Amino acid sequence: MMSNAIESPFHLENRRRQISETLYAEIAELTYKQCGVDLRIGKRELVSARLAKKAQEIECDSIECYYRTVKSDHSGQMLIAMLDALTTNHTAFLRERQHFDYLAQRASSLFMGRQSLRIWSAAAATGEEVYTLLMVLIEALQLPFPSAHIESCLQVLGTDISTKALEVADAGIYCAEKLDPLPLNWQKKYFLRGKASASGMFRVRPELRRMACFSRLNLIEPIPSHQLYPAIFCRNAMIYFDQETKRRVVKSLISCLEPKGLLMIGHAESLTGVSNELTYLHPALYQNQEQQSTVPLDKSGSAT
Ligand SMILES: C[S@@+](CC[C@H](N)C(=O)[O-])C[C@H]1O[C@@H](n2cnc3c(N)ncnc32)[C@H](O)[C@@H]1O
Repeated sequence: MMSNAIESPFHLENRRRQISETLYAEIAELTYKQCGVDLRIGKRELVSARLAKKAQEIECDSIECYYRTVKSDHSGQMLIAMLDALTTNHTAFLRERQHFDYLAQRASSLFMGRQSLRIWSAAAATGEEVYTLLMVLIEALQLPFPSAHIESCLQVLGTDISTKALEVADAGIYCAEKLDPLPLNWQKKYFLRGKASASGMFRVRPELRRMACFSRLNLIEPIPSHQLYPAIFCRNAMIYFDQETKRRVVKSLISCLEPKGLLMIGHAESLTGVSNELTYLHPALYQNQEQQSTVPLDKSGSAT
């Protein structure tokens, strides 16, 4: 019989998952302040499950001990890792494909008169949206692939708050099932099949990989670039934001859109009451007004 002094793995796991109401409230508040993700109501189970895993990784036997360690890490790296764990990075190739069909139809007119076309995926997660955008545009514009020429004329920027998700995006390596939504000829054209120990895995071809650029960007902070984009994808991130945060984020996304530029959001998201600067075109698809607003924004994204 097991001695009472030795805790079974089951009990240890259970104890590790426990989180008091006060600690849950503190962590949810910090997450909200840091990245806008609102876990303050009804997400105690999610917070406890995800942080118990983080606690286990660093051999803490409780979430409280893990959180104390995060707070005492002055480098800020542990906080970034905690936020990584609390964000949801689910995505897929060709996800919500209506947007890609629309973009394919509009690709020639978007490209017209430009030497290069740059699109921004503002909640890129593990990169599938970015690579989908590239493949869709190459196909729609009938660009020769691979070719050095198109690498300079088509670029997609992928940003996200999650460093862990961005590492996957950056590597561009996916398991076979992930490629299922893509037509077979695209899989062959744009991916390299892994061999030996990498069997069952696919790597984005380097020629496509070079057309993507990934970096960490927190959407609730001022955007450190004055580049204007003809289209921005910000899909399935705002669903975790409250109305006030959505307003700020949409305001700063608009400041990065060309006049008449397109903003794509997730189909489960809504911009009702969020902005009157955008025109609704189709479900989850909005267009910026013709004239770029010249009103300067303060740090909160409000017009001054
Ligand atoms: C569910 S994924 C959506 C991925 C992709 N856009 C799609 O629709 O398939 C949501 C992404 O938003 C990111 N996110 C959440 N809050 C963010 C913030 N404040 N700044 C930047 N990215 C954020 C998360 O890290 C996550 O990768």
